[in-house]
Amino acid sequence: MSSNAIALEGVSAAYGQSRVVHSISLAVAPGDAATILGRNGVGKTTLLRTIVGLHPAASGRIVLDGDDVTEARAFTRARRGVGYVPQGRGVFQHLTVEENLELGLAALRGRPGGGGTVPGHVFEIFPVLDRLRGRKAGLLSGGEAQQLSIGRALVTRPRLLILDEPTEGIQPSVVQQIADALAVIRRELKVAVLLVEQYLAFAWSVGERFYVMRGGRIVMQGETAAQAPESVAHLLNI
Ligand SMILES: Nc1ncnc2c1ncn2[C@@H]1O[C@H](COP(=O)(O)OP(=O)(O)O)[C@@H](O)[C@H]1O
Ligand SMILES: [Mg+2]
Repeated sequence: MSSNAIALEGVSAAYGQSRVVHSISLAVAPGDAATILGRNGVGKTTLLRTIVGLHPAASGRIVLDGDDVTEARAFTRARRGVGYVPQGRGVFQHLTVEENLELGLAALRGRPGGGGTVPGHVFEIFPVLDRLRGRKAGLLSGGEAQQLSIGRALVTRPRLLILDEPTEGIQPSVVQQIADALAVIRRELKVAVLLVEQYLAFAWSVGERFYVMRGGRIVMQGETAAQAPESVAHLLNI
């Protein structure tokens, strides 16, 4: 019996013979947020892709809401409440904002209540998406596209939201909007947030727990309230 939205137990992942993620264990409860920090190439994206089912785990267990999904396919995990905001946003440039959001609903099709129109909470959290419904995603600013990517993950009402470097390449004013949105998503939708970041101030403003990855391993972890962001900076620099 588990009260965690997500728990990893000794999860490893590899490309062929090359293991890049080594025995990662962590957990996030509903409504909580944890951040994984680490410089480029340490295995953060590979770990997230393994959690969502886009890359196989070489060993360990991935447990969603108490159920082992280590062998489950990505769409099964999406239906079970995993929302994924990939690095680089992954929006479809030639589709409109609304069409991109509708694609997010495809994960629920085939289930009673699945499909249909984009739920209103997405536009309440990101009003800019309402204003820009008909605009092609390729014409959005970086910050707008990031909000679209998060909005698309929210249309299925996930219980766990996983974000891979959402502040990468966006302006500071939008970074604050995204931090505010994540606070609402946690508090009002009771979603657990698992964030990968390199921007320390943002990580500290979003999550109460942090993990630092280096060489595919967690080398440090703690509570953001108990430690200054500067205390981990040396682990993020080359
Ligand atoms: N598709 C791939 N095939 C082989 N190696 C890869 C692939 N993707 C990433 N890697 C390697 O795995 C390691 C971790 O990459 P990644 O998970 O993208 O790290 P991060 O997200 O922390 O920058 C790096 O050494 C990278 O070169
Ligand atoms: Mg990455």
